[in-house]
Formats: sequence, structure tokens, C-alpha cells
Amino acid sequence: MIYITGKGGVGRSTVATAVAMAAGRAGKRVVIVEVGSRDRTPGTTPEPSGIDNLWTLTIDPQKALEEWLSALIGSQTLAGMLSKSNTFAYFVAAAPGVRELVTLTKAWELSRQKARDQSTAPFDLVIVDGGASGHGLGMLRTPQTYAEIARIGPISTQATRVKEFLSDPEAIGYIAVTRPEETPISETLELEEALLAQLGRALDVIIVNGVLPRQMTRADLHAIEEASAAPLSADARAAIATARTKAGWRQSQMAQISRLRGATKSSVATLAFIGGTDLGLKECGELSLRLPAVVVGAK
Ligand SMILES: Nc1ncnc2c1ncn2[C@@H]1O[C@H](COP(=O)(O)OP(=O)(O)O)[C@@H](O)[C@H]1O
Ligand SMILES: [Mg+2]
Repeated sequence: MIYITGKGGVGRSTVATAVAMAAGRAGKRVVIVEVGSRDRTPGTTPEPSGIDNLWTLTIDPQKALEEWLSALIGSQTLAGMLSKSNTFAYFVAAAPGVRELVTLTKAWELSRQKARDQSTAPFDLVIVDGGASGHGLGMLRTPQTYAEIARIGPISTQATRVKEFLSDPEAIGYIAVTRPEETPISETLELEEALLAQLGRALDVIIVNGVLPRQMTRADLHAIEEASAAPLSADARAAIATARTKAGWRQSQMAQISRLRGATKSSVATLAFIGGTDLGLKECGELSLRLPAVVVGAK
């Protein structure tokens, strides 16, 4: 399993798709699991995405919860009734992270199916597009919480197994997606610490997404400085100002990436900003070709 973390908007879903496409090209059957964030019908069974080797599962937490309960208590009818009851609705609303727990448990089951029986193995790789809030660390904390709350019984046993799975470097790789800016980089370093404290694991890869291309060499910049000393037309001055701004952005991105490299124990990979507004599958495919091998090999 590959678990992808990162604050909303940094490109987590884009990276999840790109990683899935790269693994799909390498012949792996891949499923992306997410909690109802895209405009797909939520459910509990993976759906083919239309791209070779790639399935998606947008979890419907309510249905997943019913499925989870019926497996635990051995009766679908009872689970259905229970999950629709007011008491239960209250429990789910009040219980911290029960939706995150069932999502993670579902992803865990999908990746275990492979280990159990190769002939029914639907997937070689499960990619979790982690949590819609915060960094997605909250979701990773839920098995621990439930192992403690339940203490004994089936919920505790299952939660403990999921928790062990999350700490197992053979079973799961962690990728953080961030941007080449001061706050996101600092937050990613904090995330790395938190993961270490929580699961005893470092991140496998940090992907810095949206890196501006290098447009000018030092010599170009020098030439611009020299040219701007001479009297220039308004257009030329505007062009120089734009060039300086872009060069400045790129320089500050590079400074943030070096700061990250200096401070982290994880591998750092960069992904270029490829423009456009909402990236489609074509662009994700383009990004997938630029991913270094370490990313796809994260698990
Ligand atoms: N490398 C990139 N270059 C250009 N646009 C990008 C890149 N990565 C992501 N985007 C765009 O940024 C926005 C947020 O990306 P998304 O993957 O949905 O983020 P998240 O899942 O973290 O909220 C989307 O519009 C996406 O198309
Ligand atoms: Mg997303």
C-alpha cells in the first residue's frame, strides 16, 4: 500500500493518480482509495477507471461502516438496523474518526486480499489518497485509538492488526506531497516528525509539487541587469520586471527545496508545475512519466 499525505490543494490527488498510472504502466493492477472527495459515486467496491490496470474506490463511509459492522457481528440485517439507528448515528457522529477507521480498514483489506490468495488478487497496489482534513495523519491515528477504546473483542483485534500493518515497512510506504514554499515545507517537516513519533516510521518520499521550470541562466540574469541600466522603452522595462519576478520565484523555490533536503531523512523528489487550470488525465499521465523510480517503488 502507498499512503499519500499532504494538506488539501498541494496536489495529493494529482500525485495519487500519477503514481497509479506509473505503476499501471509497469503492469501492476492498481486501485486508488479515497474518501468521497471526487465526483465519483461512492460505494464499497472498486470501479474500473477507464485506464488500463487502474481502478478507483471512493468510499461511502456509511456503507463501508455497515459492511464493517456486519463482518464484525456476523449479521448483515442486524448491522443494517444498528447502523441506521439513532443511537448508532449518534455514536458515529461523536466517535472520533470512525469513518477514517473504516476507510483505512477497507484499504487494508484490499491490500491483504493480494497476500491471501493470488488467484483472486484484484490488486497489486493500493494507493490511499489520505484524509480530506489536516495532513491525513488523523486517519492513521484511528486504529490505535480504537485498539485502545475497545481494548478487547473483534474491533480491538482488527484495529490492532491495521495498526501493525501501518507500521510495517514491508507493507506500506508513505509519500508526502508539498509545495516549494516556506509554510508547506515547514509543515511537511513537522509531519515527518509526527509520523516518526506515531508509527516509528519516516516518510519514504517527499514530493515537492509545482516546481517552476528554470527559464534563465545566471548569465541571462546578468545580461538583463546590464541591459536594464540603459534607457529602455516601457515594454522592455515591463518584460524585465516580469523576468525578474519569475526568476525570484524560482530562486525562492530552490531555497526552500534545499532547506527541505538539508532537514529531512526522506528522499525528496520534485514535480514540475505544468500549467493549465484543472489537470486532466493527460496531464497526470505526463506527470507520471516524470516520477522518479523511488516514488513508484515506495511499496
Ligand atoms: N504539477 C502541477 N502543475 C500544475 N497544476 C497542478 C499540479 N499539481 C496539481 N495541480 C493542480 O492543482 C490543483 C490541486 O490539485 P489536487 O491534486 O486536486 O490537490 P489535493 O488533492 O491535494 O487537494 C488542481 O487544480 C490540479 O489540477
Ligand atoms: Mg484531493
